[in-house]
Amino acid sequence: MGELENLISIHDLDRKTIDHILDTAAKMETVAVKRTKDLDSKIMAVLFFEPSTRTRLSFESAMLRLGGSVLGFAEAGVSSAGGKGETLADTIRTVERYADIIVIRHPLDGSAKVAAEFSSIPVINAGSGSEEHPTQALLDLYSIRKMKGKIDGLSISLCGDLKYGRTVHSLGMGLCHYDVKIKLAAPQSLRMKPAIIKHMEKAGVDVIEVESVEEAVKDVDVIYTTRIQKERFPDAREYEKVKDRFRITSDDLDLMQEDTIILHPLPRMDELDSDIDNTPHAKYFDQVYNGVILRMAILKLILD
Ligand code: NCD
Repeated sequence: MGELENLISIHDLDRKTIDHILDTAAKMETVAVKRTKDLDSKIMAVLFFEPSTRTRLSFESAMLRLGGSVLGFAEAGVSSAGGKGETLADTIRTVERYADIIVIRHPLDGSAKVAAEFSSIPVINAGSGSEEHPTQALLDLYSIRKMKGKIDGLSISLCGDLKYGRTVHSLGMGLCHYDVKIKLAAPQSLRMKPAIIKHMEKAGVDVIEVESVEEAVKDVDVIYTTRIQKERFPDAREYEKVKDRFRITSDDLDLMQEDTIILHPLPRMDELDSDIDNTPHAKYFDQVYNGVILRMAILKLILD
């Protein structure tokens, strides 16, 4: 087996491992274009109990570029878990007999960890509830390093839904390994979990919290903005109250540094105006391609 066993949480990775993953991803840039047969004996199962466009398709594209094969489902309803109530444990015990690696996205916090406990083959967390999305965080770190040439020394704004957004949880934790300044920008009711802020401060990260878009976009090298996670609000009225509270529009462009880049895990709703797409700040569609590169690195480090 490869250098990595599983990928369940960003908490399991130290700086050395993260840097090694990012270095391996850099090597995948040419492999992605040429394609290889390195994983031609391997099968990847994708078990997606929640909607996805980029994460699932980039995992599949990554595996195909490495010569491997792919099977799975993209919707819980078509599986026995969704349609008939089969347990996650039984689903995993079945799929491990069909494939060499499992990529799972599930609406419950802790689901990927549970899947790994029942699995005899490696498991990758492709999003567990509002808790974690480690491969997205790694592709975000890779994007920052590729676009800005470094991570240490940068000022980064994490914006939008910091309470329910799993990508910002994993990215925030991943950034703790670097010498960065973090601005947490969110409406009051969607602030970052105090435990993550504490972890950042303990790691020596200079953290400030702001509430306005104007403050969020000023004096930073990277703006990382996110969708308000409508489906995770326990009360629809709470969502209605905040849904339009944090929107970056072309009016905010003058406040940004000339070389500030804007990233977004996507999908984008109203929080990021499409007028920004044609400006040099907009890097979110380039970030999408980095998802393929980074996931190739992860698959290779686990399976090769
Ligand atoms: C994110 C997710 O699923 O958490 N999407 C993604 O994987 N790129 C972000 C979101 O849904 O808002």
